[in-house]
Amino acid sequence: MRIVSVSSSYGGTGKTTLAVNVGVAAARSGLRVAIVDTAMQSPGLADALAVPATWSLADYLCGDCDIARAVHHLPPWAAGGEGALFAVAAIRGHEDAAGALVGGYDPGLLVEGCRRLVDALDLDLLLLDTPAGLTTEAVVCAGIADVSLHVDRIRGRPPLRLSPSFLVINMVPASLAEPDVLRQARSVHGDVPMAVLPYSPEFALAGAGEAFVIAHPEHGLSSRIRAVARALTGQPFPGPAPG
Ligand SMILES: Nc1ncnc2c1ncn2[C@@H]1O[C@H](COP(=O)(O)OP(=O)(O)OP(=O)(O)O)[C@@H](O)[C@H]1O
Ligand SMILES: [Mg+2]
Repeated sequence: MRIVSVSSSYGGTGKTTLAVNVGVAAARSGLRVAIVDTAMQSPGLADALAVPATWSLADYLCGDCDIARAVHHLPPWAAGGEGALFAVAAIRGHEDAAGALVGGYDPGLLVEGCRRLVDALDLDLLLLDTPAGLTTEAVVCAGIADVSLHVDRIRGRPPLRLSPSFLVINMVPASLAEPDVLRQARSVHGDVPMAVLPYSPEFALAGAGEAFVIAHPEHGLSSRIRAVARALTGQPFPGPAPG
């Protein structure tokens, strides 16, 4: 069983879409996976997975419901064989978020909530999608997680990284050769990335409720995402993922 937080130093590096696609890839390989959106100020998971607007993490952190009520079991398209995919949306709607943010909530409840999810859902992998930067939620999630997946872009910003972490360089232009990407990553982050993911116009255009790894299973980006999923779920990862 692994808990992985997905983090970044700034917004829009691809955390939510990577969490969704890694989660779907792992679930389709037969694992029991849950993704929790902890970004109440800028939620993305509900839209990405077309999760209905019912109970949310915000309700749980405000003490208004049990974490089990906020879990949504994705239909079978998202998982294969023995696998299962669950999602917890950050908020139900803007009123829900405004209430939580103004009225106050307890991010510390995430620790107990995650423990309960792992036990109740018998999870193999729990992915925590976090808000960008050193927010309270990101720090709490890093504390709960076995490892953080830190998502950045090429020529990104150095750290604000929570350790231990794997670096993923996302949305790399096709014109850039992989050795140059690795050199730049080493000079900015002082680290070799676990994965280098190309910019894909098809990925950018994917609609809500549509996982890229399902819509484009043969695409090179999908095979790299599946390699990230395999690495996170326990198998050794030999440097940058093969194409
Ligand atoms: N490899 C990629 N190729 C093309 N587009 C991508 C790629 N990865 C992510 N994107 C696109 O980048 C946009 C931002 O992605 P996403 O919402 O996952 O970022 P985020 O880090 O979760 O943002 P935030 O910090 O606001 O939560 C989305 O439109 C997504 O489809
Ligand atoms: Mg996001």
